[in-house]
Amino acid sequence: MTGKFITLEGIEGSGKSTSLSDIKKILDKYSISYITTKEPGGGPLGTELRSLLLNKNSNITSEVELLLMMADRKDHVDNLILPNLESGVWVLSDRYLDSTYAYQGGGRKIETSTIDKLANILNLPKPDLTILYDLPPDVALQRAAQRSALDRFESEPVDFHTRIRNAYLERAKREKERFKIVNSSADFDRVKEQVLKIITKFLDE
Ligand code: TMP
Repeated sequence: MTGKFITLEGIEGSGKSTSLSDIKKILDKYSISYITTKEPGGGPLGTELRSLLLNKNSNITSEVELLLMMADRKDHVDNLILPNLESGVWVLSDRYLDSTYAYQGGGRKIETSTIDKLANILNLPKPDLTILYDLPPDVALQRAAQRSALDRFESEPVDFHTRIRNAYLERAKREKERFKIVNSSADFDRVKEQVLKIITKFLDE
C-alpha cells in the first residue's frame, strides 16, 4: 500500500500554511496516517540549505539557486517523502517541484526544459494532488509583509511574483487532473470551504 502525496503551492502570502491545519483536521477525521513537511528544508540537509536560500545576504546566481533547490528536494524525497509513501503514510508538503517551475522557471526565467531534465535525472515522484492557492501578488505581498521580515524571495519586485503566479496558472492549465485551484483572495471561511471540497472529493475518488 502506498500513501498519497499532496502538495500545496502558491506565491508568498497565499495562505498555504494556514490551510495546512484545515487539511490536517480533515485527514484526522478520516483516520488517515500522514506527515506534514515543507520545501526548502524538509530533508536532513534542509535547515542549512533553507537558510542559505532564504538569506538576503546570500549572493547566488539563478543556476546555483536552482541546483540547491533540487539538491534539497532529492535529500527530502529520498529520506522523508519516499520512505513514508512506501509505508502507506500520506505526505502533505508545503511546496515541491512546481515551486521550482514557478520561481526558478517563471521568476528567474530559467528554461522549463532545463528544469525538466534535472527532474528526470533525479527521478522525483509526482504528487497525486496539488492545491494551488491563487491570488494577486500585491495582496499576497502585503500579507507576507505583515507576517514577518521579508526574505530573499519576498523582497523581489511585484513583477517577479506576477511571473511566478502566471507560471503556476500555466502549469495548472496543462495538468487539470492533478491541480486544483483555490481562490485565495476570498476570506478565510471561503478558502476553507473550497479546500474542504477539494480534499473530500479527492478522498472519495
Ligand atoms: P516559504 O517556505 O516561506 O514559502 O519560503 C520558501 C521560499 O523558497 C519561497 O519564496 C519560494 C522559494 N522556493 C523556490 O524558489 N523554489 C523552490 O523550488 C522552492 C521549494 C521554494
